[in-house]
Amino acid sequence: MRKQIAAANWKMNLNLEEATGLLKNILQAPLQLLPGREVIFAVPFPFIPMAAEKSVGKNNIFIAAQNCSNKKSGAYTGETAAFMLQSVGVQYIIIGHSERREYFHETNAMLAEIIDQCFLHQLQPLFCCGEPLSVREEGKEMDYVARQLAESLFHLTPEQMQQVVIAYEPIWAIGTGKTATTAQAQEMHAFIRQQLEKKYGHHIAQSVSILYGGSVKAANAKELFSQPDVDGGLVGGASLQAAEFITIIQSLD
Ligand code: 13P
Repeated sequence: MRKQIAAANWKMNLNLEEATGLLKNILQAPLQLLPGREVIFAVPFPFIPMAAEKSVGKNNIFIAAQNCSNKKSGAYTGETAAFMLQSVGVQYIIIGHSERREYFHETNAMLAEIIDQCFLHQLQPLFCCGEPLSVREEGKEMDYVARQLAESLFHLTPEQMQQVVIAYEPIWAIGTGKTATTAQAQEMHAFIRQQLEKKYGHHIAQSVSILYGGSVKAANAKELFSQPDVDGGLVGGASLQAAEFITIIQSLD
């Protein structure tokens, strides 16, 4: 059975005191994570050591970075390398979030290089894909997402692909309060799985977790997660409120 995952993406929010308090409040709750369920906290870089320390000894709680460099090491001022993140207790890296693609011009080819850096350091990619509104209005969202997968992921070996978590985040649903309908989410998730099956076969396609992201909140999580191809969520705004995120975790299928 594939993993069901609630992933918090804190983005560029909170100071250390606020971040520590939020994590403490969430981890104090009786989360009752059954086997096969995971919670991931994608925290800003400066809070990684704090978050890693707080999650020590907690079952099925993992820390993610929100990005990592496509370069190995060296004279790249301001960048953070995969080996550094591995050394401070990170297990997952969010790769290709639409905000990175849009504001920092990350291309599909560059994301493929970041993914390769992750695999050199035993870090699992949490790979984001998803179309802008204009593409959906043209009815071309499947082609758009298929291309993102093909150009960033499909050079991986089957063994590597099994380690990847995919998040489908339609850009028009991020931070807008406008969630994809459960039917829209299920349709795209099934399509993504079909693309995986064509490239890697049934077994691998069935084993990759595909999360939905875009205005997930306590009130809609259960319905979204109940869809057969939706294996949890990547949550922005609602992950900054302990009670909201705890309910989202408890909504995992
Ligand atoms: P919101 O949940 O705030 O819409 O953000 C989604 C997202 O971008 C998670 O990565």
